[in-house]
Amino acid sequence: MEKDELQKLLDCAVSTVKQAAEMALDPGIELNIETKSNRNDLVTDVDKAVEQFIVDKMTAATGYPVLGEEGHRVDSFEGRVWLIDPIDGTMNYIETRRDYAISLALCENGVPVLGVVQDVVAGKTYTATLGGGAFCNGTPLGKVDSAIDYRQVVLITDLKEIRALPRLAKALEESRGHRRYGSAALEMAEVAAGKAGGFIHLWVSPWDIAAATLICTETGCTVSRLDGTNMDVRQKGSILAAWPTVHSDLQYRLIQAPN
Ligand code: IPD
Ligand code: CA
Ligand code: CA
Repeated sequence: MEKDELQKLLDCAVSTVKQAAEMALDPGIELNIETKSNRNDLVTDVDKAVEQFIVDKMTAATGYPVLGEEGHRVDSFEGRVWLIDPIDGTMNYIETRRDYAISLALCENGVPVLGVVQDVVAGKTYTATLGGGAFCNGTPLGKVDSAIDYRQVVLITDLKEIRALPRLAKALEESRGHRRYGSAALEMAEVAAGKAGGFIHLWVSPWDIAAATLICTETGCTVSRLDGTNMDVRQKGSILAAWPTVHSDLQYRLIQAPN
């Protein structure tokens, strides 16, 4: 895609996501919380309203199909497709009222070419275009440290990963410590921004990570499945997003090392 066309699409995506952030902050409707797959997998009327708002805007502007967590489906990923997570971190939206994001990506034949992750409460807009670098509120994020190893960084992961991966607890003990914010998109943005060294998750969906994957790779992070295979944002699965040496260390220690 031409650079100018990509920039225009990014401008449109950013403006839409910022309007959606205002909706999330002051929705003017009842949350009406419902459960989905389990008691902690929640959706509110705001998730649905934000998704519909973004779908309407991006469809009117481009006509491209949209895949959204709260009900918008596509037949295929051929050509250009928008991917939306209207509120990534719905539990935080309901309970802690911070650390939730709006995530919007454009994929071309399944590859993210544009990504926006809005940290709604902090008012931070992370953006990236393929080959054009990554930014936070318009300031370049720069490249992450490619030499630092996992012992010198904070790692982001959750209890279920620690339970499922027998070697993870030890690696976390040897690191600077572990964190968990409850929004995969923001957790990856933290890695891209050079604050945390790595993010490990066993089960992310396309809308959680499509935009943040591009933001990470544009800052020099390595993003793959936990077994080291290529990331394909069209499929659900595991993710290991980390600064390059942290990534190879963790991939070896958690999966490949003999014991
Ligand atoms: C969830 C968040 C959470 C992650 C879950 C996701 P949602 O997204 O990103 O951090 O651990 O796997 O489903 O449901 O709040 O959009
Ligand atoms: Ca999500
Ligand atoms: Ca969501």
